Amino acid sequence: MKRLLEAAIENNREWTKKGNVATYIPELSKANKEHLGVAVYTIDNEEYYAGDCDVKFTMQSVSKVVALMLALLDNGKEYVFSKVDMEPTADTFNSISSLEKRNPNKPLNPMINSGAIVTSSMISGKDGSEAIERILKFTRKITNNPTIDINYDVYKSEKETGDRNRALAYFMKSTGIIEGSVEDALDVYFKQCSIEVTCKDIARIGAMLANDGVMPWSGERIIPRQIARIVKTIMVTCGMYDASGEFAVRIGIPGKSGVGGGILASVPGRMGIGVYGPSLDAKGNSIGGLKVLEELSRELDLSIF
Ligand code: DON
Repeated sequence: MKRLLEAAIENNREWTKKGNVATYIPELSKANKEHLGVAVYTIDNEEYYAGDCDVKFTMQSVSKVVALMLALLDNGKEYVFSKVDMEPTADTFNSISSLEKRNPNKPLNPMINSGAIVTSSMISGKDGSEAIERILKFTRKITNNPTIDINYDVYKSEKETGDRNRALAYFMKSTGIIEGSVEDALDVYFKQCSIEVTCKDIARIGAMLANDGVMPWSGERIIPRQIARIVKTIMVTCGMYDASGEFAVRIGIPGKSGVGGGILASVPGRMGIGVYGPSLDAKGNSIGGLKVLEELSRELDLSIF
């Protein structure tokens, strides 16, 4: 396995030159475009990694998976899906137009920005800071990494430039989809996106999901099986935004990308995979990361279909 991962990095590093790091959140543009790393964590507790697997990056949209798990734990699926739909989208991840066109004005799914701001707004806590503390605590647990924290430079950068997300959130407040404080919801969202991880950390989240909600390293159940199933299904249909169909055909496993360059993938009953490559394709997904996953899926016969 180790050799397979090393080969996947070597064979695909060239691809990183063909994409670009995200610049719309200025702090993200400091990433090294040629970085490419991968980590695998099996449900039998074997860990393998290769390439730039110790480089830290912010979760960005990968955090939407974590927020969805907590929102479901806190509120149950009926309430969560009364506020956010579970339908895929052919629009971009920060699309505004689809919000108004639908009746009721529910965001299409919890993986696009509008839907994720809603799930973040549902996380229990007396205010935003208590909610983000709970997200951090939960993230440390499901990565088995107590040192995980927020990158405050990225948070600040995102907050300063997050007007598109503000527009989405205030619109949803006007339609009653967001019930509490919009500013709190946005602050939780900006902070969760700025949680810093390595691909080893996100491989462990993938392994817990692959193991139906039980953390393989401790045997402890952290989420009910049904929540693990819902989250993996939404990752398949919506995790790569308007590239989810192609991802399902080419790679065929639940996955969630982020503009920080991470992709969290989960192979049910087998393993979690974390990849990192901050050079992105036109749809905001890691260009090298996708190629690494494609090679691993082919070599290890990972597709669930
Ligand atoms: O809200 C944003 O735009 C970012 N914090 C997260 C977007 C993102 O990661 C989209 N993923 N590919």
